[in-house]
Amino acid sequence: HSVGIIGAPFSKGQPKDGVECAPNKLRAAGLLERLQQQCAVKDYGNLTFENVALDEPVKGSKSVRTVGSANQRLSEAVKALKRDGHTAVMLGGDHSLAIGSIHGHTAAVGPVSVVWVDAHADIHTPLTSNTGNIHGQPMSYLLYELQSKPPLPNFSWMKPCLSSRDLVYIGLRDVDPEEYIMKLLAVKAFSMTQVDQLGVAKVMEETCDYLWDSKKPIHLSYDIDAIDPSVTPATGTPAVGGLTYREGIYITEYLCQTLLSAVDMVEVNPLRGRTEDDVHSTVSTAVDLLLGCFGRRREGNHLPDYSLP
Ligand code: ARG
Ligand code: MN
Ligand code: MN
Ligand code: MN
Repeated sequence: HSVGIIGAPFSKGQPKDGVECAPNKLRAAGLLERLQQQCAVKDYGNLTFENVALDEPVKGSKSVRTVGSANQRLSEAVKALKRDGHTAVMLGGDHSLAIGSIHGHTAAVGPVSVVWVDAHADIHTPLTSNTGNIHGQPMSYLLYELQSKPPLPNFSWMKPCLSSRDLVYIGLRDVDPEEYIMKLLAVKAFSMTQVDQLGVAKVMEETCDYLWDSKKPIHLSYDIDAIDPSVTPATGTPAVGGLTYREGIYITEYLCQTLLSAVDMVEVNPLRGRTEDDVHSTVSTAVDLLLGCFGRRREGNHLPDYSLP
């Protein structure tokens, strides 16, 4: 198969500068060259986004119009990339971009299953959010079951496109009380407690068993803050007690062997690291996670026709 890469240098779903630098940082770390050793790659470049003037908060949520219009563009781009026949890789940007990415993916291929790897559930509605940051809300925009929310400016292009039955969370450890809606909807979730209890191999087996019934294409939305901040400190909302590097990689290796159809890599923020090492470790982990999604094996990848010289 072939991979289509789209950069989304966008940060207005949260207040911290720097997350818009991630697409180019990931490319500069050799993402394209290294992916090309495993599969065909087409780079669609970076999207450009308009800055909506007079974007006053709506029901306490910030930059609603800017986020709405950016996601509309992203949705169109992901839809086109999927129609070209590629597996989509969206380089964020903050996690509000999952709205456009999952919407565009669905528009091209029909209903999908989502594996959301994150310290956070990102399922606040504009009415429950205590920060007003839309990167903490994307799931509530996507789920059919949460559409009692008020219409928002620059969001009329999108309709919810995901059923709560088709969502699995992995890595949760910083979930706000209002996000209890995920329990009311009976969303399948493996918090860090379950990862500790079962081990990551069992978590992935159960995840895929659970999703297998419907055989929908899989959308992996990977928030880098799912990984422990000792490994990936350069991110806007770090949370202690996260996945190890190895657990993080195992998730990608496992999903690589499934109907993986699109991947988001979000919340890498090269300006948030305290040292050059912090940034390097975060960026190179994000690259390794993406390579894991597309066939990199830790035992080494060998050519099928390899013979001793
Ligand atoms: N729950 C917090 C909020 O509503 C944090 C969300 C963090 N989200 C993320 N994509 N990093 O703001
Ligand atoms: Mn997060
Ligand atoms: Mn919060
Ligand atoms: Mn997130």
